[in-house]
Amino acid sequence: MTFPITRQRRLRATDNIRRMVRETELSVNDLIYPMFVTHGLDVKLQIPSMPGVFHFSVDALVQEAREVYGLGIPAILLFGLPANKDELGSEAYARDGIVQRAVRALKSKVPGLVVITDVCLCEYTSHGHCGVVEEGKVVNDKSLELISRTALSHAEAGADIVAPSDMMDGRVAAIREALDETGYTDTAIMAYSAKYASAFYGPFRDAADSAPQFGDRKSYQMDPANRREAIREITLDLEEGADIIMVKPALSYLDIISDARTITDVPIAAYNVSGEYSMVKAAAANGWIDERRIVMEILTSIKRAGADLILTYHAKDAALWIRERQ
Ligand code: PBG
Repeated sequence: MTFPITRQRRLRATDNIRRMVRETELSVNDLIYPMFVTHGLDVKLQIPSMPGVFHFSVDALVQEAREVYGLGIPAILLFGLPANKDELGSEAYARDGIVQRAVRALKSKVPGLVVITDVCLCEYTSHGHCGVVEEGKVVNDKSLELISRTALSHAEAGADIVAPSDMMDGRVAAIREALDETGYTDTAIMAYSAKYASAFYGPFRDAADSAPQFGDRKSYQMDPANRREAIREITLDLEEGADIIMVKPALSYLDIISDARTITDVPIAAYNVSGEYSMVKAAAANGWIDERRIVMEILTSIKRAGADLILTYHAKDAALWIRERQ
């Protein structure tokens, strides 16, 4: 049936009709707020390339997390800035490391909040790579040992979900084994499965002081040109025991999110990364775009593509805007 019998505009006529036929609805339940924790007391330091995002000391982080949880956001993702970096990133898996301390504080002061920890070495190593470096190369299997030690130390501190972002082969299996052997059978794994070697991480590397000191991450993160390979990465992580898989970044990779949706029923997370955030903030600050409408459109498009969960620095704003919409 075609025009004039069919008229697509009939179901766009009023706001209430549009509401009835809307296919995708963003919910505060979908949001995960990434946060950065640093040493010190009463620290709240804005990250210059990410307006509205801060480094918090543990005490300030707890306060902020309370506010985040109060907005209805169910979960945060935690990144740590260590006091010292070394060759093997030892603060990443130290019992009293910054993330471990933050998790303990959050779990005792804001118990309902789901605490997800980013599991990686790059913020903690002097060379800034996500694994162990030998003769100028990131070696896979030795990295697994430190990555799984890091995940286990987060679980011991009380993390609900650990999120390996290193892109070493076999890390999900190694983490699952380390957790299960020690009785942490209920700690979930959210795997950064299809994580691309992306220029969109630029502002984050300032935020986490985690830029590689030599070379780049192309020998472990995925080539942005590849689509089928993402399916392979996701399938492997699922076979190794991932509870949630992730696509990262989100916006230039909506096709990957959509592909992922067709091959698995586990929850899919998408990371709306730092560069995606900073571009919006910069354009909004210049008055070139309507920030609120742009952010809601971006987040809705990520969900429409097939994501269940969205990691986003816009989470606090979005939570308010979702509430006001109702
Ligand atoms: C650590 C890690 C990165 C991000 C999350 N975990 C940086 C990287 O891989 O270089 C990026 C997050 C963002 O850009 O918002 N491996």
